[in-house]
Amino acid sequence: MTVDPEQPDPSALAEAARVLRGGGLVAFATETVYGLGAVATDERAVAQIFAAKGRPASNPVIVHVADIGQARSCVVAWPEVAEELARRFWPGPLTLVLNRAGRIPDIVSAGQPTVAVRAPAGNVARGLIERTGEPIAAPSANRSNRLSPTRCAHVLADLEGQIDLVLDSGPTAVGLESTVLDLTGEPLRLLRPGPISSRELESALPGRGLVLPAAGESVERPTSPGRMAVHYAPRTPSFRVDSSEELARISDRQGMAVIAIGAGSVPLAPPLTPVFRLETPDEASRHLYETLHHCDALGLRSILVVMPPDRPEWHAVRDRLLRATRPVASSE
Ligand code: TXA
Ligand code: MG
Repeated sequence: MTVDPEQPDPSALAEAARVLRGGGLVAFATETVYGLGAVATDERAVAQIFAAKGRPASNPVIVHVADIGQARSCVVAWPEVAEELARRFWPGPLTLVLNRAGRIPDIVSAGQPTVAVRAPAGNVARGLIERTGEPIAAPSANRSNRLSPTRCAHVLADLEGQIDLVLDSGPTAVGLESTVLDLTGEPLRLLRPGPISSRELESALPGRGLVLPAAGESVERPTSPGRMAVHYAPRTPSFRVDSSEELARISDRQGMAVIAIGAGSVPLAPPLTPVFRLETPDEASRHLYETLHHCDALGLRSILVVMPPDRPEWHAVRDRLLRATRPVASSE
């Protein structure tokens, strides 16, 4: 169903809410990526999300709420730090991990005692949660280990036939999945870098320590499998180089698409190599998945990414790229 991103037709939202309350699955846009939603308190509906995605039962999903009040209904306790962060960043791309209340079934959190909650921005997501009247469990609406969808067509390419309804409100505004922050211990732990940067979090929490994930570390944390290496990957073999000089040293660029990220130059791209450029962190965040999806659809031999510099403003984009690609040396 096509809906206007700013003023979604109330009857379309009502229909989607009806499907959700009946135990069905609805894909919808949040400000970050499209999510595959089910009513979070409905164990059987949530089980269908895992089945549709081919998602391992060990990977917990995020619960989407309309506001702080609904977030509180999903957790055992709502600490002051959660209140401060939610007031500052919600609705928006920040997910908070807290201790889970009994009304959220085990399956949502893969049996862990915690739950990840966020209030997404965007009138479609907000309107849908409000009309459903229940928190909505929603991972990104892609097959497990594939690229997150930023458009309806990406959702359908992976999941057509497995979901009851998709609300197509066009491309998402932010383009990269939310920042995930674990508030259950001290110090606070950033589990997934994202659109809300660690700097912004630190400035919202003066004097609080924040443990960052080492960028590119393929250390697997079973408690948050989104951090595993080679996740969010295109089907086309995808490699990365750290600089355009390194790119220039690759002599055989037949059947290769190049995605250059950051402001560096891209020398010696032969005329037949499609080259895509994403120069700023904002532009890269918004268009990274779209560009990867596009390159993937070209059916080329490989995708080669020129990495942006290892600087804080590129942390989230680098994190996703380090999962989507392998170092070029590993192809040889
Ligand atoms: O922007 C987003 O976060 C999108 C939109 C749809 O909201 N959702 C999304 O969901 O990216 P998903 O399932 O693709 O990624 C959720 C991440 C995973 O890395 C998961 O392991 C982690 O959050 N996560 C979920 N619940 C958790 C929990 N209780 N403790 C630790 N990590 C958790
Ligand atoms: Mg995902």
